[in-house]
This record gives sequence, C-alpha cells and structure tokens, in this order.
Amino acid sequence: MGDSGAGNDDAQGPGDGGTGSSDGAADGSSAGEGASEGASEGASEGATEGATEGTTGDANEVPPMGGADLLPWLEAANYADWAAESGVHASAGPHGGGVRTFLNASLFASLAGGVDTHEVGAAVVKELYDGESLTGWAVMVKVTAAPDGDSWYWYEIIGASIYADDVGEALCVGCHTTGADFVRTPFPLQ
Ligand code: HEC
Repeated sequence: MGDSGAGNDDAQGPGDGGTGSSDGAADGSSAGEGASEGASEGASEGATEGATEGTTGDANEVPPMGGADLLPWLEAANYADWAAESGVHASAGPHGGGVRTFLNASLFASLAGGVDTHEVGAAVVKELYDGESLTGWAVMVKVTAAPDGDSWYWYEIIGASIYADDVGEALCVGCHTTGADFVRTPFPLQ
C-alpha cells in the first residue's frame, strides 16, 4: 500500500528517462514537466486512494504512473487478466496499425453502467501492433474526479518513442474529447 504511493511519487519526475525521448516527443514532455508537477502530485494521491479503496484489492488494478515504472509494468503484462477485446483490430484513430484494449474492473463497471464520468482509478491499457508484433502501448488512468482531460494521466510508447507521459497531455486530450469521459473504445467490448 505505502509502496504504491511511493512508486507514484518517484515515477512523475523520471518519466522520460529510459528510452529515446529524443524525437518530437521530447519537446512536449519537457515543456509539460514543470507544469505537470503540481497536477500530478495531487493526481497520483487521488489515484492511489482509488487504488486502495477500489473495487478489488488487486495490486495490478491501477497501473503505476510515469514511464519509468509504467513501462516495466506493461512489459510484464500486468494487465493481462483485465477484461479485453477479443482480438487485435485496426485502430479507428492514429494508434498504430492494430490495437487491442484492456479495461480494469473499475472502468469496465463504469462503462457497463453507462456512467458519464469514470471513477478515480479507472484505467485502460491498449496494446499497439504492427502486424503480429506488439510494438507499444497506450494507457489512460483517471486521476481526479472532474470530467475533463486533466483528470486523466496519458501515456503512449511505440518502439522507443514516447508520445505522452503526463496528466492532461494536450496531444491526446483533443481527439479524445468525443469519448465517454474521454474513453473512445466501443463498448460492449468487441
Ligand atoms: C486523432 C485522434 C486521436 C488522438 C490524437 C489520440 N487518440 Fe487515443 N484513441 C482514438 C480512438 C479513435 C480510439 C478508439 C480505439 C481505436 O480505434 O484505436 C482511441 C483509443 C485510445 C485508448 C484506449 C481507451 C479509449 O479511450 O478508447 C487509449 C489508452 C488511448 N487512445 C490513448 C491515447 C493517448 C495516450 C494519446 C496521446 C498520445 C491518444 N490516445 C491520442 C483516437 C485518438
């Protein structure tokens, strides 16, 4: 329990460590970093609460935020037992060639109930494929209750390129506003 809190705090700073944040993504993430500090601190507290009081006691229910912790979590497929789309299908958006979406229990319940605003701790992991190969992930985690883009943590990595690793990432928010509290995956899952 205490661990997940500490993990989150650590994660916010070094989020762009690790892989090659040398492309266009680097600009965005360094600009965003100062601005996001306050937001993400509050945000990760909120998410931690959601995680600990949430629907299941499962440690893998809410992904750690910040690429330094999140990427290994994804690589270990900690989301594998979440509700998932039956297979890889073409993305209707810009998310690589093929995608397969996994919902945690909180988000699944919320979408099933037709709720407008998802609960703090709701999370989704989307696997990104090039043909048969898994090349990256897109992740959203609800961090504050408000129904706006700043209430989600956004992450996307394809190969070594990180396209988002922040709360309220503008690149992602803009296109996701048409979703149900920013979630665009068709539900029931296909
Ligand atoms: C041009 C539009 C567009 C942009 C920009 C965009 N997305 Fe998406 N996203 C979609 C669509 C459409 C879906 C629905 C599933 C699909 O077809 O891929 C989706 C699905 C997702 C999902 C699965 C959960 C859901 O909402 O359905 C995640 C996670 C996600 N996007 C993350 C991101 C992140 C992170 C960024 C920013 C780097 C981003 N998206 C930018 C259009 C977009």
